[in-house]
Amino acid sequence: MAQQRRGRSAAMGEPVVIKVSFAAKRPAGGYALAIPVRGEDMLHDRLAGLDPAALALAVRAAEAQRFERETGALAEAFVAEGDAVRRLLLVGLGGQNEDGSWEKAGGALSARLLVSGETRLVVDLTGVKAGGRDAARLAFGAAARSWRYDIYRTRLARKQKPTLEELVVVGADAGVEKEWTHLAAVLEGLDLTRSLVTEPANIVYPESFIARCRAAMDGLGIEFEELDEKAMAKLGMGALLGVAQGSVRPPRLFVMRWNGGAAGAKPVVFVGKGITFDTGGISIKPALGMEAMKWDMGGAGAVAGLITALATRKAKVNVAGVCALAENMPDGNAQRPGDVVTSMSGQTIEVINTDAEGRLVLADAMTWAQRELKPEVMVDLATLTGAMIISLGHEYAGLFSNDDGLADKLAAAGKASGDLLWRLPMGEAYNKIMNSDIADVKNSASREGGSITAACFLERFVEEGVKWAHLDIAGMAWSDKASHLYDKGATGFGVALLDRYVADNHEG
Ligand code: BES
Ligand code: MN
Ligand code: ZN
Repeated sequence: MAQQRRGRSAAMGEPVVIKVSFAAKRPAGGYALAIPVRGEDMLHDRLAGLDPAALALAVRAAEAQRFERETGALAEAFVAEGDAVRRLLLVGLGGQNEDGSWEKAGGALSARLLVSGETRLVVDLTGVKAGGRDAARLAFGAAARSWRYDIYRTRLARKQKPTLEELVVVGADAGVEKEWTHLAAVLEGLDLTRSLVTEPANIVYPESFIARCRAAMDGLGIEFEELDEKAMAKLGMGALLGVAQGSVRPPRLFVMRWNGGAAGAKPVVFVGKGITFDTGGISIKPALGMEAMKWDMGGAGAVAGLITALATRKAKVNVAGVCALAENMPDGNAQRPGDVVTSMSGQTIEVINTDAEGRLVLADAMTWAQRELKPEVMVDLATLTGAMIISLGHEYAGLFSNDDGLADKLAAAGKASGDLLWRLPMGEAYNKIMNSDIADVKNSASREGGSITAACFLERFVEEGVKWAHLDIAGMAWSDKASHLYDKGATGFGVALLDRYVADNHEG
C-alpha cells in the first residue's frame, strides 16, 4: 500500500504527517477510538461494539457535550475496556452526502488528537455505510490536517509537540486501497507545496525553490528544465527580467514535465506565479504585513505540488508545470514606474506600478509555455491581486477563463476537492482599461475591478486557440486561522483541485 513519504522530516526527526493504514479488525494495544456518526444514525447502533457501561457513558458524554453530529463535531469520553481506559471520540458526519464531510471528520479528529498525548487513532467504520472512497477521504483529511512545519521551533514545550503518529481505519470497504493510493499521492504534493509556501524568502528564492523541487521529486520520472537569466534574455523575456532586476537573487523559469500519457499527446500545462518575495519594488508596499509576501510564490508552489502528486500516482496524462520564479525588490537597479519593457510575445508593457509584478512574470512564462509546449489547455495559478481578497474573501479563489467548458470543469473539480472556485467576468469593457498611452498595454490601472483587469492583462498573452484559465489564489494560499484540513499557515490550495481536474478530464 502507498505510504506517504516522511523524507524531509525524517531528517529532522519529526514526522510530517501521520502514517495511515487500513485493517479489517481493531488492532491490539493502546489507542484512541473514534466512531463516525451520521445525522440519521441511531447512536446505540453505532456504539454496539462497546460494553454496556461504556456505551451508557458515551451516550451521556454525547448529550452533555451537545453533540449533534454536525460535520466534524466531536464528543469525547473515557471509557473502560477490560482493565484499560480508552479515549473514545464520536465524530459527526453531518447529513447525507454533504460535500467533504469525510475529509472534515478526519481532519477534526487529527486536530483534536495531534498534541493530545495519544499516539495512535483507530477509526472504526464497522456498520457505517461508507464506500472505499469515503474511508480514504477520512484518512486524507486526518493526514492533511496533521501536517506541521516545526523545523524552526527549537523551544516547543512538551505539550505543544505532536504526539499522534498513526491512523488505522478499521472496516473500510474493498476499494479503499486504490483510493488511498491516489490520495496519498495528493498528500505528497500538498507536503511539497506547503513546505515551499511556509519557508521564508531567505531560504526559498528562485534557485533554492528549484533545488527543493528537484530533491522532492527525485526518482519520480519527471523531466526538468531550467532557464537562467542568459537564456531568458536570449528569448526576449523582458517582462520577467524587469521584475527580477532589482534583486541580487537571479530569476529562473523552471519546467517540470510528466509524460504519463500517449506519446505525442498535447500536454495540459500549469503555470505558476513564483515571486519568492514581493516587496512591491520601487512602488514599495507598506511595512505592516509585508512578511506575508513570502508566500507570493503560492501559485508556483501549487504547480510543483501538483506535478509531484500526478507523477507519484503515475497519472496517465502528459502534463507540464512552468514556474516563473523571481524576487521583487527595490534597489538601484530596480525597474521604475513608467519603464517600458518588451515581453517575449513582442508586446510592449508600460510598468505603471512595480508592485503589479505577478502579471509581468506570468506574461513571459505563458508565452514560453505556449510556444514551447503547445498546450491543449493552459491554467495559471497566482497570488495575483489583493482585490481578489476584497471580492471573495477567503472562501473561493477567483476563476477567469476564455472557455466556458474549461471554466465549468474547473469549478466542478473545485467543488469535488473542496478547493472552491468562483468565476468572474472578463470582456472588452474591462480589457480596454489596460491600454497604455505609450506602449501596447500597461500593467496596472485603477483599483476598480482590479482582479478582472489583471486577468485581462494576462489574456493578452494567450495565443490563438489556446483554452486558458487563470486562478487568482491570493485569498487562499495562506490562512490566518486553522480549518478542517490545515492548521493556520500554508493551505496547499490548488493541489487537490487540479489533481481532481486532471483525473476527471484528462486521464482517458
Ligand atoms: N502579490 C500581490 C497580491 C497579493 C496581495 C497577494 C495580498 C496576496 C495578498 C501582488 O503582486 C500585488 O502587489 N498586487 C497589487 C496590484 C496593483 C498594484 C495593481 C495589489 O493587489 O495591490
Ligand atoms: Mn506585487
Ligand atoms: Zn505579488
